[in-house]
Amino acid sequence: MKLLRTFQELKSWRLMQNEDVGFVPTMGNLHQGHLSLLETSLSNHKASVISIFVNPMQFGPKDDFAKYPRTLEADIKLCEVLLKNHTKKELVVFAPSDTHEIYPDGFSTVISVPRFDEFLEGAMRPGHFNGVATVVFLLFQMVKPRTAYFGKKDYQQYRLIKQMARDLSLPIHVKGMPIIRDESGLALSSRNQYLSAKEKSEALYLFQTLQHIKQLFAQSIHNYEKVKNYIQKELEIDSRWQYLEVREARRLHSHLPNKGRIVILGVLKVGEVRLLDNMEVELL
Ligand code: PAF
Repeated sequence: MKLLRTFQELKSWRLMQNEDVGFVPTMGNLHQGHLSLLETSLSNHKASVISIFVNPMQFGPKDDFAKYPRTLEADIKLCEVLLKNHTKKELVVFAPSDTHEIYPDGFSTVISVPRFDEFLEGAMRPGHFNGVATVVFLLFQMVKPRTAYFGKKDYQQYRLIKQMARDLSLPIHVKGMPIIRDESGLALSSRNQYLSAKEKSEALYLFQTLQHIKQLFAQSIHNYEKVKNYIQKELEIDSRWQYLEVREARRLHSHLPNKGRIVILGVLKVGEVRLLDNMEVELL
């Protein structure tokens, strides 16, 4: 395994590789969700890169960039353990030592997919998706992967990156990977570590609600009215919801199809923690 701390080092390494590079972009503080992405990349490609970079551009004034957990040593150990099951595979941990490695002095470009700023996470966190799209674009340019792996837990982010790659004709396959949950159903997230034991059990309400809505659809695909009423009531009686919506899955339009994939997305605020989750449903 190689730990690279500068763009120059990454550039030199990349020149020695062929096209078959898999890529997992992260902000570190790795958990099983990230590791499942890396496991897939290691299985599918001769060489893989995992980036660990806490991207200042995607944090708003209310988000705590300074407090975001930075656990590079532990992250590296987890990567090393995973690599043991993949002999003959190459893994690079790209952990820029300084923000300037990604954003050189005077950097003034923004990659934006404006439609995504209008709803759900985009509406709640102004500027967030510009920061995500810009850093992912830059990392794509640096790593030049064949395939990049994103967790579907951040569903809107995953769809945004797919849209950006398509619009800009990037020669990269953006692959969405299943949400990893703990045994109770809670979607794994770096934010879970801030939950007390009591809050952890409260947090399950998010998963249970999404599952309940999924079941309503399973009973009848024409259950939109029932679902709409259920969601409206939930939002009225429980102020912990920041949003709870059903959308068409590919473009995230609010107009729902009669057939095909839809996605139920919710954010529940438990204590100080915003918990995101979603569930895809195939309407047959
Ligand atoms: O999902 C994340 O961890 C980040 O938003 C990403 C994609 C690594 C960009 O900083």
